[in-house]
Amino acid sequence: MSRPELVAPPEIYYGDTEATKYTNNSRIQQIQADMTYRALELLNLPPEEPAFLLDIGCGSGLSGEILTEEGYEWVGMDVAPSMLEVALEREVEGDLFLQDIGQGMGFRPGSFDGAISISVLQWLLNAETSHPTSSPPHRLTRFFTTLHSALRNPSRAIFQFYPTSDDQIQLITSIAQKAGFGGGVVVDYPNSKKARKVFLCLYVGSGGGQQAPKGLEGEEQEVDESRARFESRRERVKKGDKKRKQIKGKEWTLRKKEVCTTYWCANCPRLTFYSVVSSTRERKCTSRLKIHWPQAQSSFLRTGSRAKPFIKLV
Ligand SMILES: C[S@@+](CC[C@H](N)C(=O)[O-])C[C@H]1O[C@@H](n2cnc3c(N)ncnc32)[C@H](O)[C@@H]1O
Repeated sequence: MSRPELVAPPEIYYGDTEATKYTNNSRIQQIQADMTYRALELLNLPPEEPAFLLDIGCGSGLSGEILTEEGYEWVGMDVAPSMLEVALEREVEGDLFLQDIGQGMGFRPGSFDGAISISVLQWLLNAETSHPTSSPPHRLTRFFTTLHSALRNPSRAIFQFYPTSDDQIQLITSIAQKAGFGGGVVVDYPNSKKARKVFLCLYVGSGGGQQAPKGLEGEEQEVDESRARFESRRERVKKGDKKRKQIKGKEWTLRKKEVCTTYWCANCPRLTFYSVVSSTRERKCTSRLKIHWPQAQSSFLRTGSRAKPFIKLV
């Protein structure tokens, strides 16, 4: 069977039917969860500290759910409206943006403490149109340059993806390097046809740790052991303090929620901010409210008790 990214553009491939099918498939749920746990391990965030993460190509929130379970605040972006609709229906905790990552992103510098991306990057290797600025190198350059700026120094971005050749890995790593990232590729279970997983580990600055991460070793029969390892980690979280310590406190979260109840309507340029009115989870057009991009985003992302978002009634 062809890989999805060879069949149609993501927003077409993940239409209503496929988005629901994908999300309800228990095997996919398990695989995406395992890869997210591994990405978090490679992200190497300081334990017991809150962190604000970006989930690139968040889809219907399978990866984001793990971020929530592990106590992180997150923002997800995806180009497929149907996937985001499913995420909204499932009431994921993260805030969701409709955005093509190949066009770059407009977050204020240093907004995120880290980023993960599970099963997404291979989509950027396929040109959207024959226009030269839609070529994979152009899209990858826009993506990595703006991502580098959106991450704080030091931090990491971890991508699990499905390259089909070493040339693809080479293309991606060289463009990431030009955008300012350090790091490299980690391959788990390199000798296993079934369990082999490729992770691109990108560093801003030192990446927050001196040691380069190592790939997991073993053959197919050992894969179940790795699953057991993730499960026991999950169990540990459940047994211990369930939520990570919220050093920034309730005010921080409430401020974020307050800003998130407003979103861009379909007429707004660049992107749509899907969000929900907290109690009802209802999505409501607030187009009489215009939030000025990127100022609102900035104050939202840098949060705390800083400046109020620049919301203007029009
Ligand atoms: C296999 S799904 C993974 C979703 C989620 N990370 C998970 O673990 O379930 C791949 C996702 O990448 C998204 N995607 C592909 N190309 C994208 C692009 N250019 N911009 C944003 N999202 C994209 C797709 O819409 C889809 O939701």
